[in-house]
Amino acid sequence: MGVTASAPAKIILFGEHFVVYGEPAIVLAIDKRAYAKAEKRQDKRLNLRSLNLNLSGYYENGSFKVERGDAKEARLKFEPIKRAVEKVLEKCSEKVGLNIEINSTVPVAAGLGSSAAVVAAVTAAVSALLNVGMSKEEVFRITYEAEKIVHGTPSGIDPAISTFGGALLFQMDTGFKPINVKTDIPLVIGDTCVQRSTRTQVEKVRELKEKYPQIIEPIMLSARETVLRALDALNEGDLETVGELMNINHALLCSVGVSDESLEWLINAARKAGALGAKLTGAGGGGCMIALSKNERLEQIMEAIQRAGGKPFVARKTDEGVRIEPT
Ligand code: MEV
Repeated sequence: MGVTASAPAKIILFGEHFVVYGEPAIVLAIDKRAYAKAEKRQDKRLNLRSLNLNLSGYYENGSFKVERGDAKEARLKFEPIKRAVEKVLEKCSEKVGLNIEINSTVPVAAGLGSSAAVVAAVTAAVSALLNVGMSKEEVFRITYEAEKIVHGTPSGIDPAISTFGGALLFQMDTGFKPINVKTDIPLVIGDTCVQRSTRTQVEKVRELKEKYPQIIEPIMLSARETVLRALDALNEGDLETVGELMNINHALLCSVGVSDESLEWLINAARKAGALGAKLTGAGGGGCMIALSKNERLEQIMEAIQRAGGKPFVARKTDEGVRIEPT
C-alpha cells in the first residue's frame, strides 16, 4: 500500500528576485499540483520515477543509476528529492527502500515552482508512509534545504507556498504571513516554453547588483514600495491598481536584466488584449508571464498569448498547500 501526497505550484504576483535580498514578495498557490506516491520496497534501494519527465533511476549503496532518460537530467532532477527523502529517513528508525513515483501537472523550469512542489509532495508522502509525524513547518524546512541544491541561494518562497498554500506575504527575515485576498484574482499564465535555470537568473542579478550598487539599490526600494502598495490594493479589491503595479514591477525586473524577448512578446500581447497588468513571474529569462484580467477578458487574453506564440492557461488561487491524497 502506498501513500500519495500533492503540493501546489505558485505564481509570484510581486517581488521575485528582490526577495532574495530581503525585500517582501507576494505569492499565490495555484490550482496546478505535483503528485508523489511513495511505497516501501523489500530492499534498500531508492527508486525514483517521474512520469511527466519520462525519467527513472535509482540510488543504491551511494551510487546512482539511470534507467530511463538522460543521465545528467535525471541526476539533476532527482538529487533534491533524494536529499529530502534522506532527511525524512533520519527521523525514523526504519531504514527502508522506497519506490517513489512523481506525476506533475506543473510546467517544468518555467517559474511556477515545480521543483519545490515535487519535493514538498515527496516529503509529505514519505513521512506519512513511514508514520513520521511531520508538521508543515518541517516539510517546509526539508523542502527548502533540498531546493538549495537546485537553486543555490533561494529565498525560500517556493517551498513556503507549496507547503502552506493560499496567498502569502513573504520576506526572508520575518518569514511568511497569510494575506487575506477577498477578491477573485483572475489570471492568465502564458508559458513561453523557453526553459531556463533559476540559479543562472539569480546569479545574473547578483552580478549586476555588485557592479552597480548605487543604481540597483534604489530599484530594490521601489520594488519594496510596489509590494506594499499592492498589499493595500489587494485588501481593497482594487484590481486596476494591482494591474498598474504589476506593470511597474515588470519594468523593475527588466531593469535588472531578467526579462527576455519571449516574455516581452507575451506581455505586450496580453496588455494589448486588455490585461489590467502583466509581468514575468518567477525567475524570468523565459518561463512564464502572468496577466491580470477582468473575468470577461480572459478569453481574449488567452487568444492573444496563443497568437504571440505562448501556451496560455487560466490559473486560480488555491488555499490547499501540501496534502495527503485519499486512497
Ligand atoms: C523563483 O521562483 C523566485 C526567485 O526570486 C528566486 C527565489 O526567490 O528563490 C527568482
